Amino acid sequence: MSNTHLEIIPTSGALGAELHGINLAQPLSRDTAQEIRGALAEHGVIFFRDQNITPEQHIAFAESLAPVNINRFFKHADGYAQISEVRKEPDQNKNIGGAWHTDHSYDQVPALGSILLARDVPPRGGDTLFASMWQAYDALSPGLQKTLEGMRAVHSSRHVFGPEARRERNMGDRLVNAEQATQDAAHPVVIRHPENGRKILYVNRTFTTHFEGWSVEDSKPLLEYLYAHGARAEFQTRFQWKPGSIAIWDNRSTWHLAVNDYHGERRLMHRITLEGTPISGVH
Ligand code: SIN
Repeated sequence: MSNTHLEIIPTSGALGAELHGINLAQPLSRDTAQEIRGALAEHGVIFFRDQNITPEQHIAFAESLAPVNINRFFKHADGYAQISEVRKEPDQNKNIGGAWHTDHSYDQVPALGSILLARDVPPRGGDTLFASMWQAYDALSPGLQKTLEGMRAVHSSRHVFGPEARRERNMGDRLVNAEQATQDAAHPVVIRHPENGRKILYVNRTFTTHFEGWSVEDSKPLLEYLYAHGARAEFQTRFQWKPGSIAIWDNRSTWHLAVNDYHGERRLMHRITLEGTPISGVH
């Protein structure tokens, strides 16, 4: 299949689109890569089917979209530092990414997004949910929007990837470099999308610890309100995986959650993360 015509089919009223008419095993023209980046910014998460590509083709595809981020905390696929394994074996209970989150919000410059490729999927279950944080922002009342626009929040890697968390979470060999989990970053609570200018609610349950200048305890009620609000069904889309399916999410404007409903089955995904650019608030 040549990459001449992209068909874009939205997957929900809030976000997400399936892209058809493309073969990611082939090198992408600059125009096609730009069209894919445009669809990603517009829809927040985009999906491809039946892309049985090699690790080298996965890396080449990622590099045609943006520079690749080498993940510090996930085990890499053998021989490929660029590819992180998102894996759950039949005898494991906990999955990776099972609560709503935005990857790398603990970094000073959070990732642009990730390209997740299904290698081995359970016969049923193991879907991924995505939620639109521009829809979540737009649905807040104007007074709360204005208040949040003047606030910043602190995000951390320590309580998720650090040594203590590693012991408690019992993730086996799937996570590495616990001692390197020293990143904290403060970001505006409302950011502007660097490509389309949309206002986005930028806190997430997994990595945000508190509002800057507020204690953890004081921050909790408002953060809990925002987490419940952001997880409303009308802001979501849900993706069912088959081997060769790919999802690419815009990490600035969406949350995602890997549903852990396939105990006793194996699920192996290959993830490549794309480097981001500095994010900024709305003022
Ligand atoms: C992730 O959170 O990066 C993984 C999502 C998934 O496994 O569906």
